[in-house]
Amino acid sequence: MVREVLSGDILPAREAIAAIDTTDLGPPNEIPEVPADAFPENISSEERQWFCEEIVRLKRERNALVLAHNYMPPDVQDVADAVGDSLFLAQKGVAPDADVLVEAAVLFMNQILAVMKKPHQKVLAPDLRALCSLASHADAGKIRAWKKEHPDGVVVSYVNTYVDVKAESDYCCASANSPQVIKYVFENHDGPVLFGPDVFLGLYAAKMLLGMGQSVDRLWLMMGACHVHERIRPQHLQEELAKHPDAVVAGHMECGCQSACLVPLMNSSEGRMRFLSTQGMIKFARETDAEKIIVATEVGNIYPMSKAAPGKTFIPASREAICPFMKQNTLRKVYESLRDLKHEITVDVELAKRARVPIERMLRIV
Ligand code: 13P
Ligand code: SF4
Repeated sequence: MVREVLSGDILPAREAIAAIDTTDLGPPNEIPEVPADAFPENISSEERQWFCEEIVRLKRERNALVLAHNYMPPDVQDVADAVGDSLFLAQKGVAPDADVLVEAAVLFMNQILAVMKKPHQKVLAPDLRALCSLASHADAGKIRAWKKEHPDGVVVSYVNTYVDVKAESDYCCASANSPQVIKYVFENHDGPVLFGPDVFLGLYAAKMLLGMGQSVDRLWLMMGACHVHERIRPQHLQEELAKHPDAVVAGHMECGCQSACLVPLMNSSEGRMRFLSTQGMIKFARETDAEKIIVATEVGNIYPMSKAAPGKTFIPASREAICPFMKQNTLRKVYESLRDLKHEITVDVELAKRARVPIERMLRIV
């Protein structure tokens, strides 16, 4: 009898990839409602201006830094001191002399700051519902069991994991440096390599290894996916490409559309499709000669892409690609977070000590 593959299971890469379409990779946790004021049209300009002025005043008063992920509502991005992808925000967060770090993102990113912070710093998250479906697939217990069976194994965790999973990992990587970290690990270790929890990013890694002339036999993958990216499917891209034959595609590496689209599109039309981090997509928007870009990621990324490449046309691959977790961080919540110094994110000292090792490696291998 063929065993049912469950989310969080760890399989040799070939088996994991073959099981993508038959495994339930739906969100393992509750999906919160997207607040109405996450959209600029639902907040008056007077209200927005008041919140922004108060945030600026409170930042000064509290010696605080506001960091925002690229998916944040535009007004939150505009009032932030730094906006970027998960790697950039981790780099920014470990550097400053600020006393308070408010990070409008998702909680695993706040945890990174809580692990890396200086003793006097306070890390705040505007809303505790800002979880992540992908991070919730990762299972620290299954990683421990895999390590027991593979004492010479190396664990590489994607940044979208909570601190208990990072504490079991040898390396951590973000989408922005996953190719570099995976290459580094394969070139510097001989044993099996476990990558998780994003099976689509695992698929990307497998293709990259084959491109480098490496075997994928050493690669093991954990079954997990982001419910927002997993739902961006090949037909979304095919429909938009048919409507816009002059467009190029910038997609996030977590996308479900990778499986069927990556190879044919990349091979058939040189440079027409790129899989990148959110920040990589912004850079690509600025640098490409194309005037039309189909964006295969959370729709929030279109705002920083349009700012980076004004005048170009951005077409969402799916208008439904909205991350309800990220969108909990409205302008009001950022203001309340600074006003009331909430919600403080702390990490158990022992876990933090262990998680610091792979995070530091992620920050070094870029
Ligand atoms: P980036 O590191 O590219 O910002 O991706 C994080 C993420 O959660 C994308 O959904
Ligand atoms: Fe997690 Fe997906 Fe949201 Fe990114 S878009 S934070 S991977 S649920």
